[in-house]
Amino acid sequence: MRATDSTWWRDGVLYQIYPRSFADASGDGVGDIAGIVSRLDYLEWLGVAGIWLNPTMPSPNLDWGYDVADYCDVHPDLGTLGDLDRLVAEADRRGLRVVLDLVPNHTSDRHPWFIDARSSRTSAHRDWYFWRDPRPDGSPPNTWRSNFGGGSAWELDARTGQLYLHHFLRQQPDLDWWSEGVRDAFDEIQRFWFDRGIAGFRIDVVSELVKLRDLPDDVDPGEFARHADAEETHRVLRRWRALADGYQPRRILIGETWVMDAENLASFYGTGTDELHLAFNFPFMFASLDAAELRTVVEQAEAALPPEAWPVWTGSNHDFVRFPTRWCGGDERKVRCALLVLLTLRGTPLLYYGDELGMEQVEVTGGAARDAADRRDGARTPMQWSGERGAGFTSAGAEPWLPFGDYAERNVEAQRDDPGSHLSLVRDLIALRREHPELRSGSYESLPRAPGSWAWRRGDAITVAVNLSGAEVGLEGVEGRVAISTDRSRDGDPVDGRLRLGPWSGAIVT
Ligand code: NOJ
Repeated sequence: MRATDSTWWRDGVLYQIYPRSFADASGDGVGDIAGIVSRLDYLEWLGVAGIWLNPTMPSPNLDWGYDVADYCDVHPDLGTLGDLDRLVAEADRRGLRVVLDLVPNHTSDRHPWFIDARSSRTSAHRDWYFWRDPRPDGSPPNTWRSNFGGGSAWELDARTGQLYLHHFLRQQPDLDWWSEGVRDAFDEIQRFWFDRGIAGFRIDVVSELVKLRDLPDDVDPGEFARHADAEETHRVLRRWRALADGYQPRRILIGETWVMDAENLASFYGTGTDELHLAFNFPFMFASLDAAELRTVVEQAEAALPPEAWPVWTGSNHDFVRFPTRWCGGDERKVRCALLVLLTLRGTPLLYYGDELGMEQVEVTGGAARDAADRRDGARTPMQWSGERGAGFTSAGAEPWLPFGDYAERNVEAQRDDPGSHLSLVRDLIALRREHPELRSGSYESLPRAPGSWAWRRGDAITVAVNLSGAEVGLEGVEGRVAISTDRSRDGDPVDGRLRLGPWSGAIVT
């Protein structure tokens, strides 16, 4: 990895790849690492700075890689360690960084640690997981519920007569992070990957990592229940940050911080320099495409984050309905407004593969469904590279592991040379960020706006405005030139005093 540019993850755009669905080099209908390598030129052309890959490690795939059976290898469906090394090297040649997904909250029940742990009450790894006796009436040790399905988070293991804790599937036993052995093992896992040139990790379920030590019953089990010991979770994060900071260039930590208020979110940055580098903002994803709602989420984050902390903004991921469907109901004008917002706020934009095409959620039903855990298949369908059979994702005759969406009309090949396409808009927005330091790192300040619209200043000189309503609006006091307008019809126009925005449109004025 290049020993330069320690702020690449603040300045650049991140791109999330679901490896099974990006590009299939082997022709078996499942995406793989060699496929990602074959598409690096595209990512370089698009202008992103780094890629985050959803889990790449061996797994029985009951939760599609989030049930890890070996933290130091590559899933055979995706390739080999050698393929991953090649990906890192080829990405590096193009100035791109590779971030992997780390799943420390739980393992697969097929992981050797758990196989050993369940073998006897005195096994070496027994205390790496939570084991408790049932209550005298036979009920589970506490009221905690699984995030998948909502049943008890405890499963009885017949061999030793005790129950183990699992916040997700019963085949995903939770690790006990009070155990020093677990902490040491994950230090080693991180070093294993950092030594191979991985730029950092996206860390799964990080906000719930260390469980409350005495496992208290939920006060109100109806609420979104938090079971984490915050202080101890932060202690683990500081330990990881010190480890990541020990590398040159410094490795980065991106957290799946599943919290709904800005103060709590801010806490995962620690002082701003001693915990996570980036903490996902879920309130932003849960908001609707409404000017006041989104502005409030952004203002709250801006106010709560410590001065050295850096926000990250996401519209889609592998667990959510894709934003062109969720936020925009398929209205392409809205998709363009959302892309403008994502790529111009203060913070790192994270694009989910296909966002740049406006890829929509795909209806996946019946026998085609693969995600038994939570029915999220519709956000995970193959990347749409071309309109040919196989969508440029796999070879023409192969059956893709999940059905294709509207690839015949919506694909990279069709959009690449079309200046009016979503892909061109995204590429131009990324290029504009590169050109203007203020768009990358300038401060954020909300500006007065008309109802239904949202406007902000970046740094001293750049104004961004979106009209998220069906009526024309005007914004006073704007001077300069339109650099990019969402419908592209205004690009280059001078603005002297009043910026007029038609329904569902936006512009950047420099
Ligand atoms: C969050 C991941 O994003 C999701 O896909 C997974 O099912 C759960 N964590 C459990 O690991």
